[in-house]
Amino acid sequence: MTSKEYEKTLNIAFNEYRKNNPQDLLNGSKYFNQIGSTLLEDIEYSQQLKIKEQILNKLFENFTSVLSPSIFGSPKITEYRFKVEFVTSYNPKFEPFNRFGQRKKGNFSWVVDLDEYVLIEKDIFKKARQVYDYAISLGLNGYDLRMNKGDLRYITIKHYKDSSMLVITSDNQDERFNQLIDYAKVLGFNSIYWLQNSTKHDSFEGEVIKFEGVEFINIPMFINSNKYDFLVGPFTFFQNNIYCFEVLLEYLNKFIESQEFSSKTLFDLYSGVGLFGIVFAKYFNNIKSVDIVKDSIDLGIKISQLNNIKNIEFEARDIKDMSFTKNRDSVVIVDPPRNGLEEKGLINIMEIEPEYLIYISCNPITLKKDLCKLTEKYNILDLKYFDTFPQTYHVESLCIMKRK
Ligand SMILES: C[S@@+](CC[C@H](N)C(=O)[O-])C[C@H]1O[C@@H](n2cnc3c(N)ncnc32)[C@H](O)[C@@H]1O
Repeated sequence: MTSKEYEKTLNIAFNEYRKNNPQDLLNGSKYFNQIGSTLLEDIEYSQQLKIKEQILNKLFENFTSVLSPSIFGSPKITEYRFKVEFVTSYNPKFEPFNRFGQRKKGNFSWVVDLDEYVLIEKDIFKKARQVYDYAISLGLNGYDLRMNKGDLRYITIKHYKDSSMLVITSDNQDERFNQLIDYAKVLGFNSIYWLQNSTKHDSFEGEVIKFEGVEFINIPMFINSNKYDFLVGPFTFFQNNIYCFEVLLEYLNKFIESQEFSSKTLFDLYSGVGLFGIVFAKYFNNIKSVDIVKDSIDLGIKISQLNNIKNIEFEARDIKDMSFTKNRDSVVIVDPPRNGLEEKGLINIMEIEPEYLIYISCNPITLKKDLCKLTEKYNILDLKYFDTFPQTYHVESLCIMKRK
């Protein structure tokens, strides 16, 4: 099944539910049905979970004859997102000419001007919008995607509990951005970055022009009542629903704790800043963490020092270019991006021949594709889904495998 076909299957299932249960449908927020990131707001949360679980079980039925995979709900079903990129656009043909928000469902060049967004906390949304309104009041414009020019391109928020980072991405180095940063400081962001992206590449990322406040924001996580302190910078990945990821980590912790791994190596591959390696370090002899993003690896080293973890090594490499040495006693955790391990990554990782292989996936379609290969050599011990993306079609899966 392709990703398109999978999405179609979800569409059909949710629409079927809507058709058969019109009396149970919810209103959703003001922009429901206009933007693509809150597609399920009209469906009661327990039903969202039920439908996702049914479809995932059907997708994985060939692998799970003796298992009964179930889905874990998210502790928060709105206001859960850690990172949101708000597009700031300019189009002189349609009022309002300047807009702050998200792209319209099915129309990339049309930005829906938002004055609320249910997936991040109300207060932080309000501050992001205030920063944008102030920019417009200074005479700055949003970015004209058709002409490839403008002033302000993105306002990105990273926020969890008391920590907040504001990233302002501009097309130029207009003096007025300094005033905007001074204004944002008063609003209380812990960390403010000004990035410049003058390329045609549509991204919030760019060259750092200035930063104010702390370089990295602090993310405290609690797994089985143990506290871990993570740091996040403007360019480093962190899980987008930290509340639900704590549930996933606690679940995986139970499995790891029940085994005897104290003389073994854990490979944390696609590690980001080392989330899995750092949380599970105490159960292993040593950890090897690998990620392609050097900023994440550098920050991972800082985070391990911050948490007083000494048995972890970090390496900035592309897994597709690596060759690994056989380590048949080891445990490998992989948490690849949406395209999965891909052929080259899978071949390289299989050189390790680990005893246990733990796959965390944000894309069931590529997970299934990789499982077709992996199950030639591995048995699936457990498969669970975690609803890290309520109100959307997305879901996280956790698959624990043992070598045959
Ligand atoms: C879904 S994130 C997981 C990050 C981390 N496990 C966590 O939980 O925070 C995927 C990670 O894979 C990294 N990545 C993508 N392609 C890669 C490759 N070819 N080799 C190594 N790392 C890669 C990205 O930089 C990103 O940090």
